[in-house]
Amino acid sequence: MKLLLLGKGGQVGWELQRSLAPLGELVALDFDSTDFNADFSRPEQLAETVLKVRPDVIVNAAAHTAVDKAESEPDFARKLNATSPGVVAEAARQIGALMVHYSTDYVFDGSGTRPWKEGDATGPLSVYGQTKLEGEQLVAQNCPNHLIFRTSWVYAARGGNFAKTMLRLAKEREKLTVIDDQFGAPTGAELLADVTAHAIRATLQDPAKAGLYHAIAGGETTWHGYARFVLELAQQAGVELKAGPQAVEAVPTSAFPTPAKRPHNSRLDTSKLQTTFGLRLPPWQEGVARMLREIL
Ligand SMILES: NC(=O)c1ccc[n+]([C@@H]2O[C@H](COP(=O)([O-])OP(=O)(O)OC[C@H]3O[C@@H](n4cnc5c(N)ncnc54)[C@H](OP(=O)(O)O)[C@@H]3O)[C@@H](O)[C@H]2O)c1
Repeated sequence: MKLLLLGKGGQVGWELQRSLAPLGELVALDFDSTDFNADFSRPEQLAETVLKVRPDVIVNAAAHTAVDKAESEPDFARKLNATSPGVVAEAARQIGALMVHYSTDYVFDGSGTRPWKEGDATGPLSVYGQTKLEGEQLVAQNCPNHLIFRTSWVYAARGGNFAKTMLRLAKEREKLTVIDDQFGAPTGAELLADVTAHAIRATLQDPAKAGLYHAIAGGETTWHGYARFVLELAQQAGVELKAGPQAVEAVPTSAFPTPAKRPHNSRLDTSKLQTTFGLRLPPWQEGVARMLREIL
């Protein structure tokens, strides 16, 4: 079996390089790869790459993920998040490949408190959310044999992340202020990559499993709860902090105005994924604690 991974250098892409490797021959590309074009700002050349590589499975982890920046460059965000994934999906259909793609909780308007189900009405609040919604729709239309995973609050040990920012600030300042009215679950890139590999195997054996799934870690918190958890574990590990967990003040989203609006309710119901693939999504604290042990 042959797999094509696009966006290999991102948080999820990096972990996919590990989790997809045992499934077959893996061709992993980034936007600056020289052997094949995998630059999502040049959609016209992506189909050619897919037709040349002729994989059995394509996994797209490339995206325009700079949520605030997307507000001022909607055409570019649309190219990366919608047009290009659509082109790749069309080429996947032509060669009979399974197309795997990622989307986001930002396709919803964040109202209410109930975890969103896959079939719920969407209502993106931002350019990022809108272009990601268009992307998932194009992928689904162009390649019926697809897996689309909507995820949220992704972190990885590699590169920058929210936990690292909180740790840095807690070493510099006596007090932190963190938003406590956005609800979701921090989800590890490694968990997503592992779920993806399991789901690919299952879908290759039973194509009826193709479709749209919500994929996030178990439980829920706010950015405030997440920050306090990170600082509690750091303290337990003996890290010297000026601001401990008790010094994290809860503030509303309105305290931090940003160009892009964020949803308040990013809870996603993952029962479809867990039932279809017989997988368990561990509590978010497990993955965050593991990531902290790696970085502390
Ligand atoms: N991060 C989150 O919190 C989050 C939440 C919900 C859903 N998601 C979705 O999950 C998926 C993976 O996200 P992630 O967190 O791994 O994002 P990421 O770390 O930002 O990775 C995105 C990748 O796309 C690459 N890329 C940027 N411009 C490109 C271009 N023109 N052509 C090809 N590749 C390009 C980036 O390369 P450079 O790094 O070199 O720019 C990076 O490798 C995305 O579909 C994202 O929308 C993420």
